[in-house]
Amino acid sequence: MRHSSNDERSRFLNRLKIGKGYLILDAGTGSGDFAILIGEKFKEKQPWIVAIDFDLKEHIKDARNSVKEKKLADVISIVGADLRCIPIKGDCIDNVVSYYFLSFVPSKDLCRVAHEMHRVLKTSSPMLMLDFHPKSRSETQTIFLEMVELSNALKDAFGAPYLKVNFHDPRYLKEIFGKAGFRNVCYQIFKNRIETSKDLVNFYEEMIAKLSSNNRSRLCRKLNRVKRNLTKFGKAEYTDAYLIRGVK
Ligand SMILES: C[S@@+](CC[C@H](N)C(=O)[O-])C[C@H]1O[C@@H](n2cnc3c(N)ncnc32)[C@H](O)[C@@H]1O
Repeated sequence: MRHSSNDERSRFLNRLKIGKGYLILDAGTGSGDFAILIGEKFKEKQPWIVAIDFDLKEHIKDARNSVKEKKLADVISIVGADLRCIPIKGDCIDNVVSYYFLSFVPSKDLCRVAHEMHRVLKTSSPMLMLDFHPKSRSETQTIFLEMVELSNALKDAFGAPYLKVNFHDPRYLKEIFGKAGFRNVCYQIFKNRIETSKDLVNFYEEMIAKLSSNNRSRLCRKLNRVKRNLTKFGKAEYTDAYLIRGVK
């Protein structure tokens, strides 16, 4: 899913402590937007941001174009790779960050990802990650959950089940990252903070139109339910978020 919550990104950015010449890993960079924000905000610190995402054509190409447009090619390297096996030597990263990445990792892969993040970090260096936590049962959160259900169904229909959203309990993540060797792992929950992009409904509509008629009518029903709820509540969909942190 794409997200438009720049305020949330800015709040997250304000929590980052970036020193001169830091080597930063942005895990699951997607469109590269978060890496770009870090690059812009901390440019004078001359960081080098290694922004990794699966080597899927559209992600990597779009992200590289955005980096070029923003004239940040000397600050950000967009790397197509699998974060279950990070192509970086151990003990060299100063900061691991991610913005909506963990929810895209299936539970069975979390341990591998956590171990890899721990391996590449320097001793005493931090990881800081923000992600969805749809725990409360507000109406807008219900819309959010319906959107996720629709997005997951679309990913199945387009043969990309590995991009489905999985909600992880931060208590469980704390255990996983602790077992991977992170110290002082803790998390914070934020209520109703994430607003997903309002253009998603149109985007889903376009994707559904490309499907075979069987899949199309099933997903159209889901989409119509979301549209009805959006009209009824007159709001975009929000969800809660967690911020998890720890130190190697
Ligand atoms: C919601 S998107 C990222 C959003 C992005 N961080 C932003 O700020 O806009 C989650 C990304 O994680 C990537 N991803 C999930 N599992 C991965 C893995 N094992 N290796 C690399 N990328 C992965 C997906 O391809 C997807 O682009």
